Amino acid sequence: MIETFTELHGLRERVRGWKRDGLRVAFVPTMGNLHDGHFSLVKRAREHADRVVASVFVNPTQFGPNEDFARYPRTPEADASGLDAAGCDALWLPSVETMYPYGVEATVRVQVPAVTQTLEGASRPGHFDGVATVVSRLFNQVQPDVAVFGRKDYQQLAVVRYLVRDLAFPIEIVGADIIREANGLAMSSRNQYLSDDERTQAALISRCLGAMAEAIASGQPREAVEAQAVQRLAEAGFQPDYAVVRRPDLTEPAGGETGSMVALIAARLGRTRLIDNLEFTA
Ligand code: PAJ
Repeated sequence: MIETFTELHGLRERVRGWKRDGLRVAFVPTMGNLHDGHFSLVKRAREHADRVVASVFVNPTQFGPNEDFARYPRTPEADASGLDAAGCDALWLPSVETMYPYGVEATVRVQVPAVTQTLEGASRPGHFDGVATVVSRLFNQVQPDVAVFGRKDYQQLAVVRYLVRDLAFPIEIVGADIIREANGLAMSSRNQYLSDDERTQAALISRCLGAMAEAIASGQPREAVEAQAVQRLAEAGFQPDYAVVRRPDLTEPAGGETGSMVALIAARLGRTRLIDNLEFTA
């Protein structure tokens, strides 16, 4: 049975006990409303460790003032039973007061400027400060040996890797593949906001990513490929924030460059902002 912790000392004692027994501890941070994408991270974590801790915390500092913090879906019971079924040993459920003992305004903040000027960082100012801030705290609270993050949030994974290296967290970071619906739509808690029609329509994002990868691999110029994708999304009723092709470190590839690349899209459909990406070789 999964054990739920709402107090830091209880969690710390359990993890310390495991480590004393020589067990390796993995960690999967989430904001809840869990789906098969999250559960795949727990399974991945099991492959890397003897015990798995997941956290559910809807982190106020990573939401902008006009974003969906208040209406973000919260499903605590279903999350706990799903984690249990996925083989998770412990659930860390901190309150806002436990996470931010000095309050959200007065908190120590962690910034990763090198990776957060573009794409999601540009579209959502302050978002990655909130992510780096909460992930640093979660790492200190749980003190895992390994932590698993989804490649769905490609830039977030880059931020976390940078953070771990720069602040010397003794934690191995594992990136897990994107889990998709049958129609190609990347699973996301925010898909809850979509109507049935929008859910069907939203699959266009993954098709666009596939088309971008193919076009780049066949030698078409990057700027044209990006512009076509933006146009295709806009014509289908999306409001695209970006549709781009980048190197794995998110810098812009030179014309005709080959090698590992990633296509990334962020677009709004109705009230819902969706992101997705596709890694490929050109
Ligand atoms: P959340 O959006 O709940 O996602 C938690 C983890 O699940 C992230 O690592 C995310 O990349 C991964 N994930 C989500 N959908 C996925 C999918 N379809 N396939 C594979 N992995 C998927 O990301 C956050 O929460 C927060 O920013 C957090 C890191 C917890 C900090 O608050």
